[in-house]
Amino acid sequence: MNYKTIDDIDVHDKRVFLRVDFNVPLSKQAPYTITDVTRIRAAAPTISALIKRGAKLIVASHLGRPKGAPEEKYSLRPVYEHLKEKMTTPLSFANDCIGPEVEAQVNTLKPGETLLLENLRFHAEEEKNDPVFAKALADLADVYVDDAFGAAHRAHASIEGITHFVPVKAAGYLMDKELKYLGGVLQNPAHPFVAIIGGAKISGKIDVIQSLLQRADKVLIGGGMTYTFLKAQGKEIGKSLVEDDKVELAKSLLDRSQSRLLLPVDSVVAREFKNDSEFKTVSQDRIPKDWQGVDIGPETIKLFTKEIENAKTIVWNGPMGVFEMPNFAKGTLAIAEAMARSTANGATTVVGGGDSVAAVEQAHLADNMSHVSTGGGASLEFLEGKVLPGVKALEE
Ligand code: 3PG
Repeated sequence: MNYKTIDDIDVHDKRVFLRVDFNVPLSKQAPYTITDVTRIRAAAPTISALIKRGAKLIVASHLGRPKGAPEEKYSLRPVYEHLKEKMTTPLSFANDCIGPEVEAQVNTLKPGETLLLENLRFHAEEEKNDPVFAKALADLADVYVDDAFGAAHRAHASIEGITHFVPVKAAGYLMDKELKYLGGVLQNPAHPFVAIIGGAKISGKIDVIQSLLQRADKVLIGGGMTYTFLKAQGKEIGKSLVEDDKVELAKSLLDRSQSRLLLPVDSVVAREFKNDSEFKTVSQDRIPKDWQGVDIGPETIKLFTKEIENAKTIVWNGPMGVFEMPNFAKGTLAIAEAMARSTANGATTVVGGGDSVAAVEQAHLADNMSHVSTGGGASLEFLEGKVLPGVKALEE
């Protein structure tokens, strides 16, 4: 990947348009407050560096999925309130992201000052990658910096279109770190390379399983999708989650994988889909008719742990069970712990977005991984081997 970072460009006294992914979860009711600031914290090194180097900083993001018009519950104002408490340099807020008022606010910025723009998706043109809108954003600035890895799979105006109109473009530190770790896993992994893929359904993960089967020495499967694979092997799966229209595909993946695809050997099964349901551990050949699989069992934990501890590169996407229910979180937490031990032993460990990130955070092990991606969909598409529009746009 051939792109500049902010260390390669001059930002002093320049108007810098910084695209971040501040798509943070908010409380359900007004007054809206941020319930998880991870994504804001992840962009802080880039923001600090640009301020320190005397940029006139314009920060822009989307939040949620508004329908192309302002809606209070998707306003970036709570992010502004949060930043105001954290930052020691001047910060102001613009009620829109384009237009004469915003331009006037940008014109008053001095080096080291920051203006946070209102949600880009309050204009339908953002998601349409409209060139007029992209140019209006570009006209605010001299330099474009993209630190929004989490949104790099979206060919939107502030991510793709804008790069056609700015003379200088560069990646922020977060974007660079994400691309180095995720790119390293795909292009140059130290072996043995183990991938762990979990989650409820095969359907959303087929491409990533196929991509990783070409690159990894072992692909460990867990979560609800296990049972579609087991059905493909002709096993009784009781009332477990299954995608009947994917059974044939699961069969062909197993046939083609030459035993690099490792399925769980036992399951925790529950009578009902609730935490206080009766539950027990059974081997994979003995799932009772009226029960459903909710987690990997202890023998699988042992098997997977051994693979993880022997590996030099490990990438993980998707939980091993219904980890939101404490009784069925053991498998997922055991994977997080095994990965943490591997990190300590010198392996590169990457947690690729979504629910597995939540699990690692729940286990307080995020700091024990080499990298925890801030991208959900973006990291999945990246691991599928796709070229992300936001990354392509940064390339020279
Ligand atoms: C995310 O949360 O995955 C990104 O911010 C992208 O959001 P989107 O799926 O609404 O485009």
